[in-house]
Amino acid sequence: MSPADPLLRVTGLQKSFGDNRVLSSIGLDLADGQVLALVGPSGSGKTTVLRCLNGLETPDGGTVAFRGGPDVDFGTKVAKKEALALRDRSAMVFQNYNLFPHMTVLENIIEGPVQVQKRPRREAVVDAERLLERVGLAEKRDDHPFNLSGGQQQRVGIVRALALRPDLLLFDEPTSALDPELVGEVLTVIKELAEEKWTMVIVTHELAFAREVADEVVFMDGGVVVEHGHPDQVLRNPREERTRRFVQRLLNPF
Ligand SMILES: Nc1ncnc2c1ncn2[C@@H]1O[C@H](COP(=O)(O)OP(=O)(O)O)[C@@H](O)[C@H]1O
Ligand SMILES: [Mg+2]
Repeated sequence: MSPADPLLRVTGLQKSFGDNRVLSSIGLDLADGQVLALVGPSGSGKTTVLRCLNGLETPDGGTVAFRGGPDVDFGTKVAKKEALALRDRSAMVFQNYNLFPHMTVLENIIEGPVQVQKRPRREAVVDAERLLERVGLAEKRDDHPFNLSGGQQQRVGIVRALALRPDLLLFDEPTSALDPELVGEVLTVIKELAEEKWTMVIVTHELAFAREVADEVVFMDGGVVVEHGHPDQVLRNPREERTRRFVQRLLNPF
C-alpha cells in the first residue's frame, strides 16, 4: 500500500465457529491517529473482529492490510511468518485485563517485549517504568495484580499493550468489568492516548465516551457493518432502524 493509504484496511472479513457464521463480511478503514468506536449488541462479533485483527483468531476469508505490510489474504493459505507479522502491528487490551497472576506488574509488562520481541531486558524495564509513571502506577511496579484495584489492573493492561509499541491499539470493552467508580480513571487514560494520536479501535457500550473520543462509530449486528459514520450521526441520528433500536436500548434500558 502507498503512503496515502489508510494505516489499516479490512475487507470482506469472514469468520464462522462451526455452523455459527459470526462475521459475514466486515470492512473497515482506519487512518493514522483515528479512533474508531465499534458498537453493537452482545454476540454481534465485536470481540471476534478484534481477535482476528490481533491474530488470536484466524479468519476464514477476507483481507487485512496494514500500510507497510503485511497484506494478508485469508482466502489463501497464510504463511506463518505473515501471521506473526500481522500480530505484531497491534496490541490488545482485554475486558478482564488478562494479567498473569503469578507475575509482578513489571514482569507482566516486559513479558511480551522480552520474550516475544526479544528486546533487551534493561531497555524493556526502562520503558515499562516510564509508562507506569505516566498512568500514575510507578509505585505498583513490584506488586502482584491481586493487590491492585480493577482500575489499576486495567491501567497496567493498557501499559502492557503500549510496551509492545504497536501501531494500533485494540480495546475490548475495557471498562465493562469495573465497578462504576473505577471506570473514569481508565477512560481518562484512553482519552489521553487519543489526544496523543494513537490509532485505536475501541469496543465499548459507553456511548457518551464513544461520542467524546471517537472520530468514527461503526455499528455492527449479525456479522455485518450496519452503519458507520460520525459519532453524532450514528449515535444521535441513526439512519438504520437496527442502529436506532440499539442506541435506544442502551440509553433507556428499562
Ligand atoms: N472461540 C469461539 N468458539 C465458538 N464460538 C465463539 C467463539 N468466540 C465467539 N464465539 C461466538 O461468536 C459469536 C460472537 O461472539 P463475540 O465476537 O464475542 O461477540 P461480541 O463481542 O459482539 O459480544 C457468539 O455467538 C459467540 O458465542
Ligand atoms: Mg465481546
